[in-house]
Amino acid sequence: MAEISFDGRVAIVTGAGGGLGRTYALELARRGAQVVVNDLGGSVDGQGGSDAAAQKVVDEIKTAGGDAVPNYDSVSTPEGGESIVKTAVDAFGKVDIVINNAGILRDKSFAKLAWEDLDAVLDVHLKGAFYVSQPAFRIMKDNGYGRFVFTASNAGVFGNFGQTNYGAAKMGLVGLSNVIAIEGEKAGIKSNVVCPVAATRMTMELLGDFAEKLQPESVTPLVTFLASENCDVTHEIFSAAGGRYARIFVGLAPGWYGGKDHTPTAEDVLDNLSQIEKQDGYIVPTSITDEIGSLAGVLGG
Ligand SMILES: NC(=O)c1ccc[n+]([C@@H]2O[C@H](COP(=O)([O-])OP(=O)(O)OC[C@H]3O[C@@H](n4cnc5c(N)ncnc54)[C@H](O)[C@@H]3O)[C@@H](O)[C@H]2O)c1
Repeated sequence: MAEISFDGRVAIVTGAGGGLGRTYALELARRGAQVVVNDLGGSVDGQGGSDAAAQKVVDEIKTAGGDAVPNYDSVSTPEGGESIVKTAVDAFGKVDIVINNAGILRDKSFAKLAWEDLDAVLDVHLKGAFYVSQPAFRIMKDNGYGRFVFTASNAGVFGNFGQTNYGAAKMGLVGLSNVIAIEGEKAGIKSNVVCPVAATRMTMELLGDFAEKLQPESVTPLVTFLASENCDVTHEIFSAAGGRYARIFVGLAPGWYGGKDHTPTAEDVLDNLSQIEKQDGYIVPTSITDEIGSLAGVLGG
């Protein structure tokens, strides 16, 4: 079995002061990566801040013989993103890996959602991932190598009551990763998404008794693989929970087509809904070109 090593690699893990991010930072460092441990050190809803969380993880890595530096910036501003990447370059000379993991919750049912709770969640999860990833992407492109892991959620991919802001931000990350995978392909950059389920301070109350089966460390192997040189996979989404790893995908089914001489109506959609919704024979497009190709097969030309 090939051993996965991070010798010579520089990784940024955002929100690595606790929960899932801490486990990623510890594991990458244990396998030889030089790691920037970023964490604002705030509460689950994004209030406050402290250097203690990131520093503690850096201390843990160093005690175990690894190499890491802390960064306490918020991912949620362009300046914060630039500064996090600069920390990697100043300390270790480059950046090879970005694990976008920082996150907060401001759960409210849609009818009660306040705009400040929308902004706060979009700023950290979605815009934060842009702010950290763009300066890192530029460096990776110049170096001809890179790995991105974005952290989405089943709340966005599948839906969950009370999480419109969070679910929309998380699905936004799927779009970001898909396009980075396409734009980074020629430069050896791979980009993938993880949807974890794990017992952390964010989920403790939700998971109840199931929590003991869902340790954050059981998500870490998948993220470690996706961040590694051994990862040839790109443009994909994975569920990782309790040691079960599974692909999640967006498929395009064959659908229904009334023929070139037929002008379709809403009644056609109603009458043919079962064929339109049929999942047999789907493809998993890796760009809009694949969809156009499939369409050309149906429409001709
Ligand atoms: N735990 C789960 O079951 C689960 C499920 C789906 C998705 N996720 C996602 O996984 C990621 C990690 O979550 P977790 O469960 O480990 O929770 P967590 O609260 O333990 O970790 C999130 C970390 O992000 C940090 N952070 C928050 N805002 C930040 C900012 N602006 N800049 C830098 N750091 C910031 C926090 O201080 C915290 O340490 C999040 O993106 C979360 O949405 C978690």
